[in-house]
Amino acid sequence: MPRARIIGTGSYLPEQVLTNHDLEERVETSDAWIVERTGIRERHIAAATEQCSDLAIAASRRAIAAAGIAATEIDLVLVASATPDMAFPSTACLVQQALGCGPVPAFDLSAACSGFVYALTVGDQFIRGGAAKTVLVIGSEVLSRIVDWSDRTTCVLFGDGAGAVILQATDSGHGLLSSHLHAEGRLADLLMVAAPGKRHPGTGEVFAIEGALIQMRGNETFRVAVRTLGEAVGEALEANNMAPEEVDWLIPHQANIRIIEATAKRLGLPMEQVVVNVDRVGNTSAASIPIALDEAVRDGRLQEGQTVLLEAFGGGLTWGAVVMRW
Ligand code: COA
Repeated sequence: MPRARIIGTGSYLPEQVLTNHDLEERVETSDAWIVERTGIRERHIAAATEQCSDLAIAASRRAIAAAGIAATEIDLVLVASATPDMAFPSTACLVQQALGCGPVPAFDLSAACSGFVYALTVGDQFIRGGAAKTVLVIGSEVLSRIVDWSDRTTCVLFGDGAGAVILQATDSGHGLLSSHLHAEGRLADLLMVAAPGKRHPGTGEVFAIEGALIQMRGNETFRVAVRTLGEAVGEALEANNMAPEEVDWLIPHQANIRIIEATAKRLGLPMEQVVVNVDRVGNTSAASIPIALDEAVRDGRLQEGQTVLLEAFGGGLTWGAVVMRW
């Protein structure tokens, strides 16, 4: 059975940078507090003219170039996002058109910050099942549009950006070895954006609707994240009969440096083997793993044959882990 291998990565961060010092002017906070509790120093913010699809297209173009393929070779487009351009058409359809892909299937996937790990798994399944050979998987977010900029407990955490990968069928020993996904709807209210949905339909004035912005019970979310991610990485290694020391790189969802450190500690992995950019990009939800992955590929940290563990956690609640041989 073929398996899916990442043959190209790309990412895009909007030009505008918002530092912790900038936030000190908006809410009662301090650079010291944000750095100590989250590890975040700055984040990127999309221009008013930039939509989720624009970020996704820019990241995808770089991934396509890195893979050395033509857009017409792509036979499935997947976009993971909590901040799509529209309810429909999907952002994936807009990306497919802009890139000049053929009339191939394209759809969005909603799993909040676990979106990329979910979408990667869907792409892998299409390839394993023989329904696709080359898949474009994107995580793209303009979270700045759903952040409550008056709420200091959440506005310091999030940023905008996009990351993309090209997955291709391979019979080599490289590629995705395993994927484990989970969800726990019982904990849906820990982290949510309630509107606009059909429960809170709203009007044209989306941002005036109560519930249109991120609401989070940070403390509880933190505790559940540490527990579930610890379980997820344990499950991923066990499924591959792998010892923690066989992992070369951990590429975690970049939510908070303390959550990342707790997961690395659980694995007994030194922080030198963890790809971290939360200090520079904040939490970019579904985009965070592919952005971090792209950085590690481009600066030469990831080397062929190495074992890479991805893990993510987010609203839903959702979480999951993927093991790959690079
Ligand atoms: N600046 C200064 N003080 C702040 C603050 C800010 N930006 N945000 C909260 N505080 C205050 C609180 O009001 C509280 O004050 P009080 O003791 O007077 O009530 C104090 O800091 C401690 O708040 P608490 O919520 O207990 O802090 P914490 O150590 O849990 O850190 C988070 C808060 C949000 C950083 C942390 O809970 C977290 O990272 N949670 C996970 C969030 C996450 O990653 N979500 C996305 C998952 S994909």
